[in-house]
Amino acid sequence: MPSTNDRAKILAEQGAPDRSLVITRNQTAGKGRGGNRWWSGSGVLTFSILIRPVRPVRGHSVSLLVSSGHPALLSLVTGLAVVRGIRLAGQIHPLGVKWPNDLYSNSSKIGGILVESVSRRGRMDYVVVGIGINVNTTFRSAPNAIRLTASSLRLVSGRIWNESRLLASILRQFFGSADLFFRRGFVPFVKTWRDEDIIGIGRSVSVTTGPRQLTGTYQGLQENGAIGILTGDGRTHSVISGTLEL
Ligand code: BTN
Repeated sequence: MPSTNDRAKILAEQGAPDRSLVITRNQTAGKGRGGNRWWSGSGVLTFSILIRPVRPVRGHSVSLLVSSGHPALLSLVTGLAVVRGIRLAGQIHPLGVKWPNDLYSNSSKIGGILVESVSRRGRMDYVVVGIGINVNTTFRSAPNAIRLTASSLRLVSGRIWNESRLLASILRQFFGSADLFFRRGFVPFVKTWRDEDIIGIGRSVSVTTGPRQLTGTYQGLQENGAIGILTGDGRTHSVISGTLEL
């Protein structure tokens, strides 16, 4: 199928229930953030989860904490859940998150998350959480640009991973984390996210946010999901969306 996120959106429009899972071994037009493509060759795990913010609970409708700004926070929460799910499925070191939604090992990208939300009449209708992880791929058929910047669990750990076990472990972590997030918001995740951050405080970075590029030293994650960048003029900028370059 072209994209598990797109398929999940089609199914959502047809009434698919909360927590529906879409998964394929053959994603032909995977989407990344900012209109980028996501290469999904052999050995890449690609799936999407549908989340409906309003759920029936014992005959009532319960509105979850998914409002404006929350899809971006859900993306950060998902990154942590994926890291934890991978670690519980097998030994791998190092592994961590890179703001806003990448999984990294050493300086190579191992996976990415694309959260898309659809609102109707000012109200969040549903959210699709798309996850791509380079599990057993050796990038033999990958374009050069990917081969030079990406890695896989197999390449980092030196062994082949059981994809079903890994998926189950990630889903268990994801649903547990999502429940906590919908009840308590992002605050319970901030410290863990900082602990898993692959970028050290004080490191020189640059961030592209809209038309603007900021260069400075990294101040880490803030409680609202933004990152702080300290520029040469002594000001700390809070960046809520953008792309971070090392
Ligand atoms: C990124 O790194 O920019 C995000 C990549 C997200 C890729 C996953 S693969 C499964 C899901 N379906 C898509 O089309 N994209 C996401």
